[in-house]
Amino acid sequence: MLRIFYFCAMANNEELFKKIIAHSKEYGFIFQSSEIYDGLSAVYDYGQNGSELKNNIKAYWWKSMVQMHENIVGIDSAIFMHPTVWKASGHIGAFNDPLIDNKDSKKRYRADVLVEDFMAKIEAKNAADIEKARKRFGDTFDEQQFVETNARVLERKNQIAEISKRFYKSLGENDLADIKLQIEELGIVCPVSGSKNWTEVRQFNLMFSTQIGSVSEEANEIYLRPETAQGIFVNYLNVQKTGRMKIPFGIAQIGKAFRNEIVARQFIFRMREFEQMEMQYFIKPGTEMEWFEYWKSARIKWHKALGIPATKYRFHDHEKLAHYANAATDIEFDFPIGFKELEGIHSRTDFDLSAHQEYSGKKLQYFDPELNTSYVPYVIETSIGLDRMFLAIISHAFDEETLEDGSQRVVLHLPAILAPVKAAILPLMKKDGLPEKAQEVMDILKYDFNCQYEEKDAIGKRYRRQDAIGTPFCITIDHQTLEDNTVTLRERDSMAQVRIEISKINDIIKDKLKIEF
Ligand code: GAP
Repeated sequence: MLRIFYFCAMANNEELFKKIIAHSKEYGFIFQSSEIYDGLSAVYDYGQNGSELKNNIKAYWWKSMVQMHENIVGIDSAIFMHPTVWKASGHIGAFNDPLIDNKDSKKRYRADVLVEDFMAKIEAKNAADIEKARKRFGDTFDEQQFVETNARVLERKNQIAEISKRFYKSLGENDLADIKLQIEELGIVCPVSGSKNWTEVRQFNLMFSTQIGSVSEEANEIYLRPETAQGIFVNYLNVQKTGRMKIPFGIAQIGKAFRNEIVARQFIFRMREFEQMEMQYFIKPGTEMEWFEYWKSARIKWHKALGIPATKYRFHDHEKLAHYANAATDIEFDFPIGFKELEGIHSRTDFDLSAHQEYSGKKLQYFDPELNTSYVPYVIETSIGLDRMFLAIISHAFDEETLEDGSQRVVLHLPAILAPVKAAILPLMKKDGLPEKAQEVMDILKYDFNCQYEEKDAIGKRYRRQDAIGTPFCITIDHQTLEDNTVTLRERDSMAQVRIEISKINDIIKDKLKIEF
C-alpha cells in the first residue's frame, strides 16, 4: 500500500473555500444558476454528480427520520399556501432582517451580522492567545485554567457578553436606533469603504411574494414559503386522523424554501432558493424539555454516524429566541468559513398550531385517551438545510494529497453512502473483449448501485477522475478476468488494490455502505 502524505496546510481557509467552489464546478457538482447570462446571485444549480450526492443526503435523512421511526411519517406539501398561513405563523410581521447601508460604499449589510462578526473577531483573539499558550506550556497546558484566569482573555469574554446582551435586547425590542448607536460606538467600519458613515437601521421582510391568478382579475398576493414547516402544521390534523397517529408522533418533509437573503455571498451556505429537511414532533405540553434534549442527542448522533470527527460539530444555544420558540439550539459545523449553523432544533411550543387554530377557526387539537382530555400539542422541530449539509460534506471530504512518489491527487473522502458513484467499472484496454466483460460486470451491479463505466484514457488518469468525485471503489477488468472471473478492486482512500472474484463485489460494496446510528 502506498503511504500518503497529507498536505492539508492550505494557505488559508478562504483559499480552501475557493478551491472547493472551483472543484464543485469542474466535476459537475454545482453550477451558478443561469451562468451563461452571468448568473443569478445566491442561486445555484446542481449538476450530474451534485444531484446524486444531494439525493443520497435526502435518502439518508429520510431513511433515518421516517423509515426508522415507526411514529414518524413523511409528507410533501405545496410551496404555495394560503396567504393567511404567513400571518398566523408570524412571518408577515416578524420574519425580518435588520439592514443598514454604508453611505460611501453603497453596500448593504445585516446589522446583526456586522455585530456578530465584530464579536467573532474578539473571540478569534482569545483563540490565538490560547494557541500561543498551548505552544509555550506544551503538555502541561491546562486550557480551562488558562481561560478562567488569564486577564486579557477574561476581559475579552466580558466585552463579548456585554455587546451580546445589549444587542439582543435591542433586537428583541426592535430598538433599531440603539442597534445603530451600538454599531457606531463599537467603531464598526464598512469592509469595503472603511468608513463609519452608516444609514439608519430598518427592518426588511425576507419573503418573496407573487400574485396568484390572472393579474387583471382580482389579484391575490401570495408568498413563496420561507420554511417547509408550515405545510406540516396546516396538515397536522389530516395526518393525525388519517394515519391514526398517537402522541408523541412526527411529520417530516423535504422541500424547497425561499428567502430574499441580503447577505448572500457564501456559495451554497446562504441561498435565496434552498431546500430544507424538517421534522415536527408533536408532544404533550410540559414534556418539551425532555423531547428537546432527546432530539438534540439524536440529531448529533445522525451527523457523527457519517464518520466526520466530533470536533467539527458544536451546539450553539440561542440567546435571542425566534418568535415561536421557548428553547432553541443550532448544530454548528466547522465550515471553511468558520463554525456556522447547519441545523436548528427548536422547541416551538403550541405557537403554530394555536395560531392556525385562531386564524382558521378550525380546532387543531389532540384527544389524549390516557388523560381523557383534549389539548393543542407542543412541538419540537428539527430543521436542517439540505444545501448546507451538502456544503459540510463536500468541504470536509475535499483533500489534496501528495503521494509517496511525489505525485498529487485531489480526492473527495465522501462517506460511501453519500458518494454519487459507488463503483467505476474500468476495462484496462479497449480491446480483446475487455469492454464486453466490463459491461457484464456493470450489468450485475447497476441495479443495486450507481456505477459508472469508463474506458477512455490510461487507468491512472481514470482513477484520479473517480477520486475527484469521491467514488469509493474502482473495478478494473483485465486479461486475467477473462480467464478466472476475478477483477482488481481499488479502494479510494487507501488506494489499496486486491484481487477478488466478481461474485464477491456486490457484498463488499454493500458492506461499505452500512451505517449505524
Ligand atoms: N422551520 C425553522 C427554520 O426554518 P431556520 O433556522 O430559519 O429555521 C433552518 O432554518 C435551516 O435551514 C438552517 O439551519 C439552515 O441549515 C437552512 N437555511 C436557512 N436559511 C438558509 C439559506 N438562506 N440558504 C441555505 N440554507 C438555509
